[in-house]
Amino acid sequence: MSIAIMCSGGDAAGMNPAIKQFVEYSFELGIKPYLIYDGLEGLIDDEIKEATHERVGGIIHRGGTVIRSSRSKRFFEIEHRKIAYENLKSKGIDKLVVLGGDGSFRAMRQFYHDFGVNFVGIPTTIDNDIFGTDYCLGVDTALNVIRESIDDIRDTAASFKRAFVIETMGRDCGYLALVSALTSGAEMLVVPEIENDFDALEKRFKQQIKEGRSYIIAIVAEGAKMSDKVAAWFKDNIGMESRVSVIGHIQRGGSPSVFDRLMAFEFAKLSIDKLMLKPDDRNVIVYKESKFDFVSIDYINSQKYQIKPDLIKLAKKLTR
Ligand code: F6P
Repeated sequence: MSIAIMCSGGDAAGMNPAIKQFVEYSFELGIKPYLIYDGLEGLIDDEIKEATHERVGGIIHRGGTVIRSSRSKRFFEIEHRKIAYENLKSKGIDKLVVLGGDGSFRAMRQFYHDFGVNFVGIPTTIDNDIFGTDYCLGVDTALNVIRESIDDIRDTAASFKRAFVIETMGRDCGYLALVSALTSGAEMLVVPEIENDFDALEKRFKQQIKEGRSYIIAIVAEGAKMSDKVAAWFKDNIGMESRVSVIGHIQRGGSPSVFDRLMAFEFAKLSIDKLMLKPDDRNVIVYKESKFDFVSIDYINSQKYQIKPDLIKLAKKLTR
């Protein structure tokens, strides 16, 4: 019996611990594990290698993914999916574990409909924006990387009378920015999910400056596309010199946190159990209300991910 693992879309810390656990648990169960390098592109190009302990040795503490990832356009074409299927068939692989986001899972569902290859998707993105799960692999490490960056910027911000606009990742979702603003003690937050009241902010900051505030930290989510505007607003409306600091891809790197490592182990083990015991169309493993479960891709796609209302409520004070 053979099973393979691959990564698709943006990498995230936790992928390597998941790959390691996938290989070790497969060996424990007497299943032959394979590694698909370069994501869906590698599936098409037959970059599929039998896993060995050596290939996954010394990777648990490393960010990114040792089997690499890709965003594939070719996989949307049936002729390329057919080649991918032939590659798997020639090695006797009929089960896949995929670390990625909802786009990757949709591609795999199509692949299942075309050729009957069962799979389980492990939600993996630092954006933490997949509907149906409270947690996506990698978000904890990213939040810790952001926390360190904000703490460091605070040192320099406090040494001048300046406003720092710090942009976090999050293509469409403000989760990283919101949690970071709350847990780093920022004064201001801009996310797509909450409308800012700039008049109220101006009043608040002017009053606080009168009372002795010397610097301001504002966290802006990438998806809000507001960093430069907010920096200009500080200069023009608050009368404070400002700087923009885009944290960027540093957020995707870093040694996986203890929490991400543990979750990677659980996700990988439960995915293999599911594929071996009872594969069905509930293809995505989720973590909801502190419990693991499996849900269908239709369910994942049925709604847009929403940040929990209690978090939004807590963060509102930073938007006005
Ligand atoms: O993986 C998610 C993410 O990091 C988003 O936060 C960001 O918008 C995007 O990927 C960046 O993608 P790329 O690595 O292709 O620049």
